This record gives sequence, C-alpha cells and structure tokens, in this order.
Amino acid sequence: MPEADAEQQLKLYHIRLNAKKPSAEAIDIAGDALRKGALVAFPTETVYGLGANALMALAVERIFLAKGRPAGDPLIVHISDISQLETVAREIPDLAYSLGKRFWPGPLTLVLKKSPDIPENLTAGLDTVAVRVPDHPVAAALLKAADVPIAAPSANRFSRPSPTSAQHVLEDLGDEIELLLDAGPTSIGLESTILDLSDGKPALLRPGGLSLEAMSEFLPDLAYAPRYLAESETAPAPGSMLKHYAPRARLLLFHGSDKAVRAAIRAEISKRARNEKIGLMASNADIPRFGNSHVTIERLGKNSQATAKRLFAAMRSLDRQGVDVILARLPEKRGLGLAVWDRLLRAAEGEVIEV
Ligand code: TXA
Ligand code: MG
Repeated sequence: MPEADAEQQLKLYHIRLNAKKPSAEAIDIAGDALRKGALVAFPTETVYGLGANALMALAVERIFLAKGRPAGDPLIVHISDISQLETVAREIPDLAYSLGKRFWPGPLTLVLKKSPDIPENLTAGLDTVAVRVPDHPVAAALLKAADVPIAAPSANRFSRPSPTSAQHVLEDLGDEIELLLDAGPTSIGLESTILDLSDGKPALLRPGGLSLEAMSEFLPDLAYAPRYLAESETAPAPGSMLKHYAPRARLLLFHGSDKAVRAAIRAEISKRARNEKIGLMASNADIPRFGNSHVTIERLGKNSQATAKRLFAAMRSLDRQGVDVILARLPEKRGLGLAVWDRLLRAAEGEVIEV
C-alpha cells in the first residue's frame, strides 16, 4: 500500500439510532466491529462511552491512546447482566449481588477482585476491576451483539468534561474512533456512582448517577470522603486526581446563603465585565437575578436532576463561546447534588469562594 494511503485518516461511521428501538442491523455491525477490535462510541444512561472489547488487550490499549489517558487510570467494564459478573470478577461478596439485583441495569459501578481473563492494561495493573450493567437500550443491544464485555471510559479526551451527546464525542474523538452510535443526549448526564467492594469495608470512590440516599437501605453508613489531589501529588487511588471534567475557562465557585451568593456573583460580574467575557451557569431561580447583557448564561434547570443532565454540556457550550471565566454556585450535597458538587469542585480545581 502506498504510504499516503496508510496515513489516511480513519473513516468514522456516524450512525443515528432511535434511542428506544435501535436498528438491529446497525447494532450487529457495531457489535461485530467491536468484538474484532474496533473502537465504538455508544450512549449509556449516564454519558457516552468509548467502547472496546474488554478481553482484547490491544483494543483496550487503543482506548488509552485515543483519550490521551494515563496508563495508570483503569477502565470500567460493562456487562449485559448480573449473570456475567463471574466472567469478569472473582470472590464476589453477597453485597455485590444484592446491589446488582436492585440497581442493575443502572448507574452503579462496583469495584471487585478481577478475573484473570481481564487484561492487565484494562485495570492498570490492579488486582481489582470496575464493573457495571448500563441502562440504555443501545448499550444493552450492543453488549448482546458483541457478546463480549465492553471496556468503556467516558468518550471525552482526558480531563475534558464527559460527553453527554454525540456532538461532544465528535468534538473530542472524531479522528480516533471507527464508529459512533448516536442516540441523542444521555438522560442522567453525569457518570455512574463507583463503590469499592473489593476490600471488606465498602467505600464510595465517586458519587454519581445513583444517590447515596437510594443505597442507604444496603449501606446506611456510606459517606463520601473525597481524597482530591493536585496533579503534582501521587494519586492514592485511580481517578482521584483533582483536575478533571474541566472546562478551558477558569471556573469560580461560590458557596453561601442564596442572598450572599447572588450578591457576590453580581459583584464579580461588575468587576470583570469590562475586560473579560463572562459565562454564568445558574439555576432557573437564580437566572432572573442576573438579567445582564454582559454575561453569557447557561441555564442549569430547576433541580439537581436537571443540573446533572445539563452540567457538562453547559461547560462545553461556554468554552465554545470563548468565555474567559465561568461563575457558578456549589449545590447542596443531597441526592444527585452530591455528584454535581463533586464535578464542580474538580472542575474548579478545589477552589471555593466562601461568602
Ligand atoms: O457512567 C460511567 O461510569 C461512564 C459510562 C461510559 O459507563 N464511564 C466512566 O468511565 O465514567 P471513566 O473511565 O471516565 O471513569 C471510570 C473511573 C475512573 O475514575 C477510574 O479511575 C475508576 O473508574 N476505576 C476503574 N477501575 C477501577 C478500579 N479497579 N479501582 C478503583 N477505581 C477504578
Ligand atoms: Mg471519564
């Protein structure tokens, strides 16, 4: 083959699907390609995933290259139902089965001891593996058609906000993947909750789409003790690096009473409006307080569920519009609010303006 051909870009097949009833033909093609080693981006109920055959070390390697992800940050394995758990994990505690039965398919990822069939690069050399059963008709059909577990991180470039639409995947990875299954925006909008059950005491590694309150029947004492770290430090656990999910613009996060936060944001706007392009992410209730032509506003909605769904898209949209700075307030840590709080804090590199 002439060299020029070899260097030609991969052709990306962007397939639009009905989210509830995806075309069986398209899914079969995608499943086959994935089994043979292709990278296939697909929707889940949380965010879009960048999928590869979890049993094929070379395909898994391609995920790390495409994302620019450090080799020390392990991936999540997706399976089609709880009966496949033994094919990816071993020494599975009863609690994993109870939680899986109650919450799968759904936004809960369990960290368990890994099966020897899972390649080392997928788990970054750890003896544990993260597993979940996604709750999306396209993901479910793809898992069936591929007939192998699917390794899939969020389909964004490393440290960019996670993708909640096919457009976001194209922005970050359009040149890296063979197939994109596009079924419109995802419903939850932020990633799964990660629970470590590999070592006696259950530990919440990442708050996400399944709230602590929902799990309290099984885990009444579970709390979130984030161990955020700056990039210069050595991470004690994978994925705990502070800078993550970050927009390009600097994010200023405010925390305090309604009144104090609104006043502080107004003051910040008047201070910066002359020299900077300002973006604001705010709830429906807050927006009328800033009806100001000097700011580019992203509406987060009326509650934490709406905010979860909009958050990453809002950050990306403000970046596209070229804002210098983004102003937002920290939500309460209840329900999905805990996951929103976590993503905002990471995006702001841990900095909060207390007012
Ligand atoms: O909702 C989700 O979980 C999405 C969709 C696509 O399923 N996936 C996702 O994957 O968010 P990713 O790679 O962006 O985040 C996976 C997180 C990382 O922070 C990683 O460090 C952690 O899971 N993780 C994976 N395996 C682990 C393990 N064995 N022990 C501890 N943490 C692990
Ligand atoms: Mg991710």
